[in-house]
Amino acid sequence: MPSQRGTDNSHGVGPAIVADGLGKRFGDRIAFEDVSFEVARGEVFGFLGPNGAGKTTTVRTLGTLLAPTAGSATVAGIALTPENGTRIRGRIAIMPESPGLYERLSVVENLAYFAGLYEAPDPAERIADALASVNLTDRAAQLCGTLSKGLRQRVSLARALLGNPQVLFLDEPTSGLDPVAAHDVHELIEQLRGRGVTVFLTTHRLEEAERLCDRVAILNTTLRIIGRPDELRQRVFATSLRVTTRQPLDRPDAVFIGLPAVQAWREDESGGYLLTVTDTAIAAPAVTRALVAACADVLSISEVAHSLEDVYLRLIGPRPADTDRGAAS
Ligand SMILES: Nc1ncnc2c1ncn2[C@@H]1O[C@H](COP(=O)(O)OP(=O)(O)OP(=O)(O)O)[C@@H](O)[C@H]1O
Ligand SMILES: [Mg+2]
Repeated sequence: MPSQRGTDNSHGVGPAIVADGLGKRFGDRIAFEDVSFEVARGEVFGFLGPNGAGKTTTVRTLGTLLAPTAGSATVAGIALTPENGTRIRGRIAIMPESPGLYERLSVVENLAYFAGLYEAPDPAERIADALASVNLTDRAAQLCGTLSKGLRQRVSLARALLGNPQVLFLDEPTSGLDPVAAHDVHELIEQLRGRGVTVFLTTHRLEEAERLCDRVAILNTTLRIIGRPDELRQRVFATSLRVTTRQPLDRPDAVFIGLPAVQAWREDESGGYLLTVTDTAIAAPAVTRALVAACADVLSISEVAHSLEDVYLRLIGPRPADTDRGAAS
């Protein structure tokens, strides 16, 4: 098919997913728009954003279940077009937000049904592997209608693994799971990464994204930011030092302003001092010397660590009031 030659990279080393100006609207409602990113093969890519941000719609669009209304994409190296739907679906799997399982069939009967749909070779072996991967071997004979929410979730994950996908879309795979079950899913994602599977993970658990994902994107109808978690922290937050002293400083301005690499300072909520710095390696020793020279009893000087949650809240949530007092102000 000559028309696909330019974009067909299904066996190559190019990105697993490319979205270029992708968008989807339902009538007047824009679910997401102007979304562009690339996911490398074997990458675990986190897709974060508030309720209604368009994450599931993006997953459904990339997963060929919905046609985009703008832009273009390739998935598993294949151009996302209606004609390519079947080929793409042969290389991907989606674990949806709510598990689509037949309640009156047992776990293993459900998996056998879906293995049949996917025309999996060696279905019995695939099913056994998938069940073992999600620690459900002992539940094989139980009716799905009698499983707890978390156990259903795990059957749904087993279902997604049946077809041995190159690209796996997981839509909130740990939502509703207890901490041990969530941990098991995290380990499974690590194993999939080890096997070179590309994982596109939507989640509201920011610590999960931070721990598992090579890169994350934050979506709120449009893409707000994308990068490695540590990169995002640096981009969104200035580097800061927190200083605590036994007694409040008499003249903090005189101690902090003008020190090398120190841009601004303010008191923090606990009575310490928060310094915005350009380079900790230069600022920390200078601050220490200045405090000692001012006869302050220093209790601690430490770099402030920001989490991915801080980044998320800064971009999506209410902004905290910043009242830095800087040398320039
Ligand atoms: N079939 C549909 N028809 C009309 N609007 C839809 C449809 N599907 C989704 N939407 C709308 O698109 C927007 C994005 O929904 P989506 O389910 O993608 O959000 P989400 O980021 O997955 O949210 P959540 O975190 O709650 O799962 C919402 O405003 C939603 O109501
Ligand atoms: Mg969703």
